[in-house]
Amino acid sequence: MPPRSFPPGFLWGTATGAHQVEGQNSNNQWWDWEQQPGRIWHGDRSGDACGWWRDPEPDFDRAAALGQNAHRLSIEWSRIEPHEGVFDDAALDRYRAMLLSLRRRGITPMITLHHFTNPRWLEAQGGWLHPATPQRFARFAARAVAALGDLCELWCTINEPMVYVTQGYLLGIWPPGRNDILGAIRVAAALLRGHVEAAEAIRNVKPALHIGIVHQLRLFDPATPAARDIAAAATWDYLFNAIMLHALCTGRVLPPFGSGRVWPALRESCDFFGLNYYTRERVAFDARQPGLMFGRRHTPPDVLQSEAGFEGKTYGEIYPAGLYRALRRAASLGLPIYITETGLPDADDHQRPGFILGHLAAAHRAIQDGVDLRGIFLWTLVDNFEWTEGWGLRFGLYALDERTGARRRRPSAALYAAIARANAIPGEGWLAAAGKT
Ligand code: FCB
Repeated sequence: MPPRSFPPGFLWGTATGAHQVEGQNSNNQWWDWEQQPGRIWHGDRSGDACGWWRDPEPDFDRAAALGQNAHRLSIEWSRIEPHEGVFDDAALDRYRAMLLSLRRRGITPMITLHHFTNPRWLEAQGGWLHPATPQRFARFAARAVAALGDLCELWCTINEPMVYVTQGYLLGIWPPGRNDILGAIRVAAALLRGHVEAAEAIRNVKPALHIGIVHQLRLFDPATPAARDIAAAATWDYLFNAIMLHALCTGRVLPPFGSGRVWPALRESCDFFGLNYYTRERVAFDARQPGLMFGRRHTPPDVLQSEAGFEGKTYGEIYPAGLYRALRRAASLGLPIYITETGLPDADDHQRPGFILGHLAAAHRAIQDGVDLRGIFLWTLVDNFEWTEGWGLRFGLYALDERTGARRRRPSAALYAAIARANAIPGEGWLAAAGKT
C-alpha cells in the first residue's frame, strides 16, 4: 500500500496539562484533593510530576528528536493569579521561557487556559458555581494573552468542559466530589459562558489569534437495539456532546444548560475546534440510576480494550472507527479541527503501535473525505499524573520512573516519529521492516 500523506503544514505533536507535568502545583484544588485519603489510586500524588516547572527542556528535546513540530500545553491559572486579582509576572515569564524553548526547536505551541484546575482562592468561593467565575476567567485569559500572545497563535479556552462536569459534579470522583445534577447543569452553563467571555477578552487584546475550545467527543452507543437502551444512550449523547456541538454551531445553548435563545458571541467564539477522542461506551437503561440519567455506561467484555492495570479496570474500548465518526460529526461545525488529544494507557507498549496506526488511518480517511483536520496531538509525551488514576495509567511515548525522574523511550515513539517526519503513514513495506528491527 502506498504511503498515506497528510496535508502540508500538518501539526504532529503531543499534548500535556500543567498539573500533570509541572510538579509542585500546590495552589490549586487538585493538590488539595490529592491529599485526601482514598481519592487517588494507591494514594498517589502529583508531587514533582515530570518536573517541567523546574526544567522542561530535556523533554522538549525529546519531542523535537521525535520529529514533532507542535506541542499542546496548558498554563496554570493558580500560578499566574495566585491570589484573586494579583498576577505573578515571574510565572508568566516562566511560561514565556517555555514557549521560546519550544519555538527554538521548531515546535509550534498551542496553549490551553483551563485544564481542569482552579486556583485555590476560586475553589474556596465555589469554583464555577460562583456567578463571577466566567468573568474572572476572562480577566485571567486577557492577562495571559497580553503576556504570551506574541509567542503563541493557537489558544484553547477550556479543556473538556463536559468531563470536568461529569467527574466533579455527577460522579463525584474529581473535586469538588459532588453528586448533584442541578449543580452539574449550572457548571456546564458557566463553563460555556467562561469560554465565550474568554474568547471575547482574547480578541480584544489580540484579534489575530486563533481561538478554540477542546471537547472530548465520547461516543455513546446503545447496549442493545432495545428502545430503552437507545433512549438512554441518546440522553447521554445529548447532554455530553450534542448540546455543546449545537451551541458552537448555532449559538443556541439548548435546555437544560440554556434557554435555546441565540447568543451571537457564542456562535462566533471559535476559529477552530479541538477534538479529544479516546473511546466509546455502551449505555444500558437502568431504572436504579436516576442520578446518571437512567443510563449505565459500560464496555462489553468481548471488545478490544486497553488495560489500565489496577483492580482489573480497563480504560475502555480501543475503537479507531470512532475517531472517524467523531471527526465527521465535528466537521459539521464548519471549523478547522485539531485532534487535541488521543492516546491510550499501555505500560509495556504492546497495544500502542496498533492504536497509533489505527487512529491515524481513521484521521487520514476523514481528511480524504473532506474533513479540515490540521493536526494531531497524541496524549502524551512522557507518563504523567493521571488525575484519579495517579501514576497508574501510562500514556507516554516515554516511560517515566516518577521516583527517580528517569525516562525510557517506548518503541512506539519511533513509529510516531517516522510518521511525523514523513508527514504520512508509511506503506506496509516500511512497517513490516520496522517490525523486524
Ligand atoms: C483527558 C484529559 C487529559 C488526560 C487524558 C488521559 O480526559 O484531558 O488531561 O488525563 O484524558
